[in-house]
Amino acid sequence: MQNTQIPWDWYVVRASALVGFLLLYISVFMGTVSCLPGIRKYFLRLRSLNFHCWISLQALIFALIHGVALLFHRFISFSLADILIPFHSSYEPLLVALGTISLYLMIILVATSYARKYISQKFWRTVHFLNIALYIFSVIHSFYLGTDLKSGLLREIFIWANGVLILLLIFNMIYRIWSRMKNRPVICEIPNANENLRQSDPARGQKRIDENFRRRI
Ligand code: HEM
Repeated sequence: MQNTQIPWDWYVVRASALVGFLLLYISVFMGTVSCLPGIRKYFLRLRSLNFHCWISLQALIFALIHGVALLFHRFISFSLADILIPFHSSYEPLLVALGTISLYLMIILVATSYARKYISQKFWRTVHFLNIALYIFSVIHSFYLGTDLKSGLLREIFIWANGVLILLLIFNMIYRIWSRMKNRPVICEIPNANENLRQSDPARGQKRIDENFRRRI
C-alpha cells in the first residue's frame, strides 16, 4: 500500500527556513539601502521606526522554529547536540554548522540591537558588522542544503535576489570608504527617531544621537 502520510515535520523545517531567510533578507536589505544616497530617503523612516530591529527578531523566531523542527525530521535524524554544536552533525557537517553559527550570530545581533541604549555606540557598530558574516553564512547554508532551492523558480528568485543584494552591499562598502576618505558623514538614521538609543541621560543621549547622525564608518 502507498504511504500517504504527509511529512509535516519536513514541511515545517522547509517553510520556517524559507520565511526566516526572507525576513533576514529584508532586514539586511533595509540596513544596506538606508545608508545609500539616492535611495535611502525611501527607507530611512522605516528603519528609524525600529522596523529593521523588529524584522530581525521575527527572522530569529523563524530560525528557532526551523532548528526545533529539525529534531522531528524523519528523513535525516538530528539530535539537540547536532543542532546546537557546530560540526557535531554527521550529515553535511560544514553546511549544517553554518546554520548553527548563523543562529548564534542572529541571537547576538538581535540582542545587541535591542540593548543598544545600554551599550556603547562603538561596540554596537563593531558587533553590527557581523551581519555581513551572518548573511553570507545563511546564503551558503540555504543554497547548498535546501531542498526547495535545488532547482526551479525558487532557485532562480534566490540567485537573482541575492545577486542584487550583494551588489548593494558592495556599493554600501565603497560609499563608506569614499565618505571616510572625504571625511563626510554616513547618515543611516533620522536623529531622535530611534527609541533604542539611550534617553536616560539627556545630555549624553543627545550627544550620542548627534554622533549617530554624523556617523562615520
Ligand atoms: C539551528 C541551526 C540550523 C540547522 C541545524 C539547520 C539545518 C538545516 C538543514 C538540515 C536544512 C535542509 C532541510 C531539508 O531540505 O530537508 C536546512 C535548510 C535551510 N536552512 Fe537551515 N539550519 C539552521 C539554521 C538556519 C538559519 C539561521 C537560517 C537562516 C534564516 C536557515 C535557513 C535555511 C534555509 C533557507 C534552508 C532551505 C530550505 C529549503 O530550501 O527547503 N537555517 N537547514
